[in-house]
Amino acid sequence: MRDAEPQPIRLADYRPPEWLVDKVDLDFALHPTQARVTARLALRRNPKGTQGAPVILDGDGLTLVRLAIDGAPLAGSSFEAGPDRLTLAHPPADSFTLEIETLVDPTANTQLMGLYRSSGNYCTQCEPEGFRRITYFPDRPDVLAVYTTRIEAEREEAPILLSNGNLVESGPLPGTTRHYAVWQDPWPKPSYLFALVGGKLAKVADRFVTASGREVELGIYVEEGKAERAGYAMDALKRSMRWDETAFGREYDLDVFNIVAVSDFNMGAMENKGLNVFNDKYVLASPQVATDADYSGIEGVIAHEYFHNWTGNRITCRDWFQLCLKEGLTVFRDQEFSSDQRSRPVKRIADVRALKAAQFSEDSGPLAHPVRPQSYREINNFYTATVYEKGAEVVRMLKTLLGEAGFRAGMDLYFQRHDGQAATIEDFAAAFADATGRDLTQFSLWYEQSGTPVVTVKGSYDAEARTYRLDVSQAVPPTPGQPTKAPMVIPLVVGLVGPNGDDLPLTLGNTVVERGVLELTKAEQSFVFTGIDARPVPSLNRGFSAPVNVVSGLTADERVFLAAHDADPFNRFDALQGLALGLLKEGARAGAPVAPEALIGAARNILANTALDPAFKAQALALPGEGEIARELAADVDPDAIYAARKALKSALGNALAGDLAQTYGALVAAGPFTPDAASAGRRSLRNLALDYLAVTASAEGIARAAAQFEQADNMTDRLAALAVLVQHDVPERERALAAFYERFKADALVIDKWFILQAQIAASDTLERVKGLMAHPAFSLGNPNRVRSLVGAFAAGNPTQFNRPDGAGHAFVADVVLTLDPKNPQVASRLLSSFKTWRQLEPVRRASAEAALRRVADTPGLSADVSDIATRALG
Ligand code: TRP
Ligand code: ZN
Repeated sequence: MRDAEPQPIRLADYRPPEWLVDKVDLDFALHPTQARVTARLALRRNPKGTQGAPVILDGDGLTLVRLAIDGAPLAGSSFEAGPDRLTLAHPPADSFTLEIETLVDPTANTQLMGLYRSSGNYCTQCEPEGFRRITYFPDRPDVLAVYTTRIEAEREEAPILLSNGNLVESGPLPGTTRHYAVWQDPWPKPSYLFALVGGKLAKVADRFVTASGREVELGIYVEEGKAERAGYAMDALKRSMRWDETAFGREYDLDVFNIVAVSDFNMGAMENKGLNVFNDKYVLASPQVATDADYSGIEGVIAHEYFHNWTGNRITCRDWFQLCLKEGLTVFRDQEFSSDQRSRPVKRIADVRALKAAQFSEDSGPLAHPVRPQSYREINNFYTATVYEKGAEVVRMLKTLLGEAGFRAGMDLYFQRHDGQAATIEDFAAAFADATGRDLTQFSLWYEQSGTPVVTVKGSYDAEARTYRLDVSQAVPPTPGQPTKAPMVIPLVVGLVGPNGDDLPLTLGNTVVERGVLELTKAEQSFVFTGIDARPVPSLNRGFSAPVNVVSGLTADERVFLAAHDADPFNRFDALQGLALGLLKEGARAGAPVAPEALIGAARNILANTALDPAFKAQALALPGEGEIARELAADVDPDAIYAARKALKSALGNALAGDLAQTYGALVAAGPFTPDAASAGRRSLRNLALDYLAVTASAEGIARAAAQFEQADNMTDRLAALAVLVQHDVPERERALAAFYERFKADALVIDKWFILQAQIAASDTLERVKGLMAHPAFSLGNPNRVRSLVGAFAAGNPTQFNRPDGAGHAFVADVVLTLDPKNPQVASRLLSSFKTWRQLEPVRRASAEAALRRVADTPGLSADVSDIATRALG
């Protein structure tokens, strides 16, 4: 035996399963340290498999108690059982029932994968490969079975017993202190969608009647005492269920839909069939403890998990390479839902900001990978912004290319063809191709090629011929494993804005350009628009129709013009951002003051425009983040110079617009009690943006205004926004407000997370010491993912100047935490290590310290597959 690097799994090596499982009967006897799991699997040889293949089941750290075939105990000689695998070399028949008894320790499970305990409650997380930590099983998504789950537990310890599907039986176990429940899920599903919950939980109940009249009982289970905070989640659930009926024709398919909120959870939430399990951050809200961002996060995640019922559960993935089949599509669906519930342009702007921050940065660094990867060492590391967010963009482009009706026809065909199946990206693409008659071969490169395409556009006007010509070229930069690329299909939505601000007609030769969509398919293309009476300003990539970097060469004057006139709200926003980005890059490079007059004028006009939505104004006036500036600079990045340039520009804007901002702040004072609707949230966001700008120079007046808002706020959004302003400045009000906030909310872990985040993100040289000190704070725990993300994650991913301190102490600290955390929770550790994803763009001194930290991690013996994979690829 040698301790070799595990070989990567390759998409090209996919083989169908040798054995299928038609039916699974599970019996759980819950116990804090010795939970007994009896699994009865109806195994059947796959007719599409290999002749005589053995039965090989996955395990992960399992202890086998007993094995039986068709009721007869199995002798030790006829199988081989280790912690990670169970092999029957000579199966007795082509179909038989295998009974497996295992013992698992939920209390010792700190990875939060498989069966574990959170605040004393039992819960499970199986995606992607956690079911094998419960029992031996072909733990792959193309093995679909129907599950019956019996759970028994101490009545006192776990009065609530839940699993997938419908409850069929429950009651006391006479003569004992125990009770039981039996759940049956009629829909075949892969093992990663299995879930079980047992514990003391409060329930919020409601009901929903589907379009065809099916009555569904809804339940949201939360820790005792928190039930009054689940109302918004329940409301979001009902709106999601209705929306999927109207927007996609998809109805719910069980009598029960349950959600359980737990406080220890590796990610946001999980779409287990009929029993979603959530990070409580995405369920619990009240005006006193949740911000507008929290409310919209809850709405989005509730919708996302619910929508998985069709895109993920009824149609699942053939293998984990197809992850974007469910995730990209479901993110697209939840984004569309939120757009319909709120302001579509504002939602789009927020989504694109997030895409650029997380995905564009990933795509331009060493961790870049295709939306559908070709190989992986650890699948847990591929729940990425590329699979989720870029995956959603690919679906959105498909819709842009096919139009509303074509897209819907393709979706309908996909549901009709593949319901009950484990499908592939090829199946998905074929549904759209067949429904619309369109060849999607080249389009599918979006799933194969990594890297963000660069689209360069040059416009020229011919007054005599009355034509306007766009010369467009595209190139995809090299990425790991992909030195050269082929041209992509890029739906570039454009407009030509005439001198009076109106769109000019878009005619190519004799054909009208439908919905403004230009289809780029070649490395270089030209489009000549006819009948153009005056020189227009081109509005490119409207609505961010394609996830690309556009190089437009627009002048500052042209951007000012678009900011004032573009009919496309996204590009109005983008014109201002482009102006700011130009100034910020210049400022960061030269260290010299910039000339912001054009930007100030454009911003003033936006602020004064009464026709615009406050939420839109807040987005348009918020400067690009430090990460986006760094990505634009691409090399030799000095985060301190970026920070200084951004602060200088923010001060210039704050000073120049002080009068307008103070007026805005005063005018937007809330008229009544807090409501979380989009319009009210938009007013708060603009008012709080004004508060921030007005305090940027730490003037006594600006600080006093923030301190007063902090004290008087009647809701968390306004209180936290004021605190965020105060902590950025080295003023006595900072520590006073932090202390008051802690005192007030110390009983509320989710609120204390906000307190951790704000402190971890202070751009000051003593922040690292502060963060180290907070790790010893009683409210912190390395065992809780939300705490780790709020303190250490926020420092690593949200504080570029201090994480990248030139003395290397920030990098070393994060590496230390990764190494301490890895043996307990490798998933959270590897995610934290991913904060190094942009290290190569740093200037040489900081780059060297990042490399040293990564190398120290990589060279540590006994790393998890998760952390070792990220370290190796980041250095690669
Ligand atoms: N499938 C889940 C979602 O996107 C996320 C998920 C994947 C997850 N793996 C997980 C959640 C592990 C918790 C733990 O909705
Ligand atoms: Zn998902």
